[in-house]
Amino acid sequence: MLIYGAYGYTGSLIVEAALEQGLRPLLAGRDLRKLKPLAERFGLPFTAFDLQDATALDHALKEKRLVLNCAGPFTQTFQPVAAACLRQRVHYLDITGEIEVFEGLASLSKQALSAGVMLLPGVGFDVVPTDCLAAHLKDRLPSATHLTLAFRAGGGLSRGTRRTMLEGLGRSGAVRRDGHIVPVAPAWKVRQVDFGDGHMHAAVSIPWGDVATAWYSTGIPNIETYAALPAAQIRALHLSRHFGWLLRRKLLRKQLQRRIDASAPGPDAATRRKSESLIWGEVCDLQGQCVHSRLRCGNGYSFTARAAVAAAKRVLGGDIKPGFQTPSRAFAIGFVLALGARITDLT
Ligand SMILES: NC(=O)c1ccc[n+]([C@@H]2O[C@H](COP(=O)([O-])OP(=O)(O)OC[C@H]3O[C@@H](n4cnc5c(N)ncnc54)[C@H](OP(=O)(O)O)[C@@H]3O)[C@@H](O)[C@H]2O)c1
Repeated sequence: MLIYGAYGYTGSLIVEAALEQGLRPLLAGRDLRKLKPLAERFGLPFTAFDLQDATALDHALKEKRLVLNCAGPFTQTFQPVAAACLRQRVHYLDITGEIEVFEGLASLSKQALSAGVMLLPGVGFDVVPTDCLAAHLKDRLPSATHLTLAFRAGGGLSRGTRRTMLEGLGRSGAVRRDGHIVPVAPAWKVRQVDFGDGHMHAAVSIPWGDVATAWYSTGIPNIETYAALPAAQIRALHLSRHFGWLLRRKLLRKQLQRRIDASAPGPDAATRRKSESLIWGEVCDLQGQCVHSRLRCGNGYSFTARAAVAAAKRVLGGDIKPGFQTPSRAFAIGFVLALGARITDLT
């Protein structure tokens, strides 16, 4: 297996988790100076190349069975990696949460099917637990026509996650309506969510990956996704409706980018150990019946490392479904439970 973007914050966590699981991946990334020390620390093979270099990419994939792409924003990386995977007949996994990337890979499904290649994006916190919860809710209410998912992620964000969020700043939100992804205003809706921690939390609509994936997993045509955020951030998102043009300006983006570059790579080990992520989901049908469930899992980055490696191990072990897949379609709901998540069914 090859891990691209191995020296990033999350990539490094994934490399460590892979070693713990007895895997010896080939580490890859575009910057040899960052890659080499990581590979030497773990005594792993490595290869540095830019994703624009299709020859180097093809060469690195020779005799590999899967690529785990950890280099995000994935809008900038998924196309060359997935194209090389199709050429070399290598399975493609990543840890994206970006709607465009899921949809881009879904559009390659036929090609992947005929090449016998599995395209399995989103094997991290986004979207393994939410996707499995969506599938669980659909099982509970097969007539469901509306799905709402909300999450509360504890422990803070990595630099890479912030960079990826910066890409979307000043753009519209997204929901799925009657099977189609449609734009909505930033912070389109706010609702109060009971995640089961004894408080109600204000959660704001955001374009989370499940707007794309839950449709493929459940066939439910109307999907909304929410994140619980502090009031100040919700206000800022509201304001971005009026200042979208400003947020898209290169100069401001550069300034924000510099602030992100100067921040910590991501939550440290102690923070990851003590933080938790909570997910709440609701499905309703046209008769007005609704059911709710909650899911609890550990810190999002630790979960991502475990989930990505578990998914890679399943694929390396022959658990392969060619074509575009979502986590719940590939491995069923038991996948998230085996990763230590707990689901509670409410009414
Ligand atoms: N699904 C989930 O739940 C989940 C969880 C964690 C992270 N993520 C996502 O994963 C991505 C990485 O997060 P992180 O925390 O690891 O960020 P990070 O520490 O900034 O690492 C990003 C990695 O991607 C590489 N990269 C970025 N753009 C590239 C390009 N165009 N070509 C080649 N390599 C490129 C970087 O290489 P350079 O240093 O050379 O730029 C670095 O190795 C983000 O998009 C984040 O949102 C998703």
